[in-house]
Amino acid sequence: MTPAIKIGDPFITADAIRQRVKEMALQINQDYTPTGRALSVIIVLKGACFFAIDLLRHLTVSTRLDFLQASSYSGMGSTGEVHLHKDITMPIAGTDVLLVEDIVDTGLTASWLLQHLSSHSPASVRLCSLLDKPRGRRIPAKIDYVGFVIPDEFVLGYGLDYDEAYRNLPAIYVAKPY
Ligand code: IMP
Ligand code: MG
Repeated sequence: MTPAIKIGDPFITADAIRQRVKEMALQINQDYTPTGRALSVIIVLKGACFFAIDLLRHLTVSTRLDFLQASSYSGMGSTGEVHLHKDITMPIAGTDVLLVEDIVDTGLTASWLLQHLSSHSPASVRLCSLLDKPRGRRIPAKIDYVGFVIPDEFVLGYGLDYDEAYRNLPAIYVAKPY
């Protein structure tokens, strides 16, 4: 059984998330509008869904969407291995790709996925992550668009889970073991 956890006040409020997501979308619009091409937005299931959908609502560039699912986590710790559970089905060769993640911690998942997407010969690949936990990094990961840089704490809400629970919380909370 997974250990019980407790959560306190919001660490990042729903308002702060909304504001930051809008700013990130403005930046992405500025960067990709000049290309005149559609942007292939690849959303990492399941955690990045809430963030990605809110971000997409503010994008004015034309987009094509697909999902992939990978995991390197079990409970509160990284297993150090990346498993691809669901791959993209949309062709991305020759297109600009934006990989959308909820959080970059060790960097294993993001760097593995970026390499995986690069093997499809896209015109470009960039990484967009709502959260960045730089203290957890084990391998380098260049994040092109970052929402919030956070300390090395386990967080949940707004898509982020603790063994599948808490994803639906509108704000982000720090989880502490009991
Ligand atoms: P990484 O491979 O260690 O960078 O971890 C990336 C994945 O681990 C993310 O996509 C999340 O699913 C999960 N993860 C990392 N840190 C947290 C956290 O604080 N809360 C919830 N999930 C996390
Ligand atoms: Mg995840």
